[in-house]
Amino acid sequence: MAALGGRRRASAAALLAVATLLVCLAGPAMAAGNKTGQVTVFWGRNKDEGTLREACDTGLYTMVIMSFLDVYGPNGKYHLDLSGHPIAAIIGDDIKHCQFVGVPVSLSIGGFGSGYSLPSRQAALDLFDYLWNAFFGGSKPGVHRPFGDAWLDGVDLFLEHGTAADRYDVLALELAKHNIRGGPGKPLHLTATPRCGFPPAGYLKRALDTGIFERVHVRIYDDADCEAYWHLNWDKWTAAYPATRFYVGMTASEMTHGWVHPKNVYYDVAPSVQKADNYGGFMIWDRYYDKLSNYTSMVKYYA
Ligand SMILES: *[C@@H]1O[C@H](CO)[C@@H](O)[C@H](O)[C@H]1NC(C)=O
Ligand SMILES: *[C@@H]1O[C@H](CO)[C@@H](O)[C@H](O)[C@H]1NC(C)=O
Repeated sequence: MAALGGRRRASAAALLAVATLLVCLAGPAMAAGNKTGQVTVFWGRNKDEGTLREACDTGLYTMVIMSFLDVYGPNGKYHLDLSGHPIAAIIGDDIKHCQFVGVPVSLSIGGFGSGYSLPSRQAALDLFDYLWNAFFGGSKPGVHRPFGDAWLDGVDLFLEHGTAADRYDVLALELAKHNIRGGPGKPLHLTATPRCGFPPAGYLKRALDTGIFERVHVRIYDDADCEAYWHLNWDKWTAAYPATRFYVGMTASEMTHGWVHPKNVYYDVAPSVQKADNYGGFMIWDRYYDKLSNYTSMVKYYA
């Protein structure tokens, strides 16, 4: 009897020890250690998503990226597509409001259309000149400012196609020169939002290799290879550009391939991406789907 009781006590103690060990092992992976709380959202892809001001007032996001400047290139034509949102000074007021509540607003160039390219050094300098005068601190006569005197906080490269001739490196360096701090100037957030494939396409690699990008949002949705291999690619991305902060780009739409259930954001995505010391946060595509699904309100605590 006594021996049996002892064995029971011993096995209970062993179970407790195992349980404690499991808690300790599970602990670090789930620890809040490298969380940043940063969530960037794309806005401008559907007019039913609500205004920019409304997106910033949700308190869910720490940056908003407007998309897209979808036409630019050697012929000097530029076009901004915000999916039916009025492109007017009223958006400038919303931009200022977002900035006032602490949410920087950036502009993404590129997108899913075919109207852009940057096939020479001069084309890159011209695009810089246009961006600077239309959306930032420049005020060249004759350059229309779609958002009035609002001054944006950044430029994002969302390039779905390109060629070896494209000079996004020249554009990036030119933007970096204007990364003014203090005075009337403001820091300019230079970011890119590629699919997860690594290495990136040559035209983007040449730009990223300048080492001056502040953030890269790695899209892990809507791409069969990314759904399967993003963990592996994430490690390569974060190792290749140690000076850049990496954001994991997820879709808020359950209908999109590669959607990650919030539970798996907690158990898999967050602990995996936060192993990198240059982890930056989450990127959510996009405000329209997020408004419908409330995805960010579920996952933001894991960011
Ligand atoms: C936090 O980042 C460091 C690298 O800087 C890494 O060694 C550690 O495992 C990370 N922590 C978590 C909880 O992922
Ligand atoms: C998302 O949140 C809004 C506001 O709280 C609510 O009206 C809506 O039903 C929610 N949608 C989903 C899919 O949970």
